[in-house]
Amino acid sequence: MNRKKIYFGTNLKMYKGNQETIQYLSKLSQLTSCIQTDLDMTLFVIPSFTSLQDAVMCVRQQNSSTNIKIGAQNMNAQDQGQYTGDISPLMLKEIGVNLVMIGHSERRHNMKETDQEENKKVQSALSHGFHTLLCIGETSEQKNYGISDEILRTQLKIGLHNITKEQLSLLWIAYEPVWAIGENGIPASADYAESKHKVIKQCLSELFGEEGENIPVLYGGSVNLGNAPELITQPHIDGLFVGRSAWQADNFYNLITSSLQSLSLEKNEENNNDHVSKIAKMLLQALGGVGNINALTHCATRLRVVLKDDTKINKFDIEKIKHVKGVFSLTNQIQIILGKGLVEQVYIALEKQRLS
Ligand code: PGA
Repeated sequence: MNRKKIYFGTNLKMYKGNQETIQYLSKLSQLTSCIQTDLDMTLFVIPSFTSLQDAVMCVRQQNSSTNIKIGAQNMNAQDQGQYTGDISPLMLKEIGVNLVMIGHSERRHNMKETDQEENKKVQSALSHGFHTLLCIGETSEQKNYGISDEILRTQLKIGLHNITKEQLSLLWIAYEPVWAIGENGIPASADYAESKHKVIKQCLSELFGEEGENIPVLYGGSVNLGNAPELITQPHIDGLFVGRSAWQADNFYNLITSSLQSLSLEKNEENNNDHVSKIAKMLLQALGGVGNINALTHCATRLRVVLKDDTKINKFDIEKIKHVKGVFSLTNQIQIILGKGLVEQVYIALEKQRLS
């Protein structure tokens, strides 16, 4: 069975020097080594260029089941040449780096990097076999004009121009709204982030078909211990890309474990929903199948009857349960035909399944 993939990463920006990076990585590695999850978790850290070589050595030496990937914050698209101050893909490869971030908002805005330049770097990084994290995101001005979706689509379409389907297994996307990044950033709400992740996934599937749907899309921009659990449980968010809140190893560890915990709670709920779904299916069959059910009315009343408690009514969650509409109509039918007693029995059966 394929395990669900989940990503947690941090960009250290221009903050930690070599020594501090190594201390940080050793602690993070030690803390995360005891994490047990049935998810396929990828953890990555993107330090400064001067720390890269030692960082790669450091994580190799750690005897930890959680393998931390080390990434570079930028890369020149060319293998070599007259690019004073730049770092080439070959130089990164030589020291064992296998992840490169392209197009972080601070590079796009402080260094005026364009989508076309990001595209060249993405093409180069992928052809050299790097895991490639392309960052995209709209500014607050673009958001206020109501053109966020168009901006995201443009950044994806240009940034991923000429990328082949065969290269997609190495590609990751980070959605980082510019207005949400850094100390003055306002974190995006989980609903907003989810809606933009949907747009991104939609665009990726338009560009690459089914294969595009498997490209992980991470959210970044003022992720913290408080908002991480809600963000990570959004259906279209595959991981979290964290800045400030991850720069102390124990903070990052806490953020990861609380996110994993909220994912596993969600999974248990799904399992319960599966039980309900099974019962609903059986009952539907007993009544002669879906074709026999034509009363989908009075849902709210049915809910009150079935759940006995108004406060438990969360329409959105309940509608996620497969066949649940069938259960409503079923109880409705049964109640009309056979009376309320049977509805009680359905309720008890559902509760038993939920608690077992
Ligand atoms: P932040 O940084 O979490 O500190 O907002 C995010 C980023 O720049 O990737």
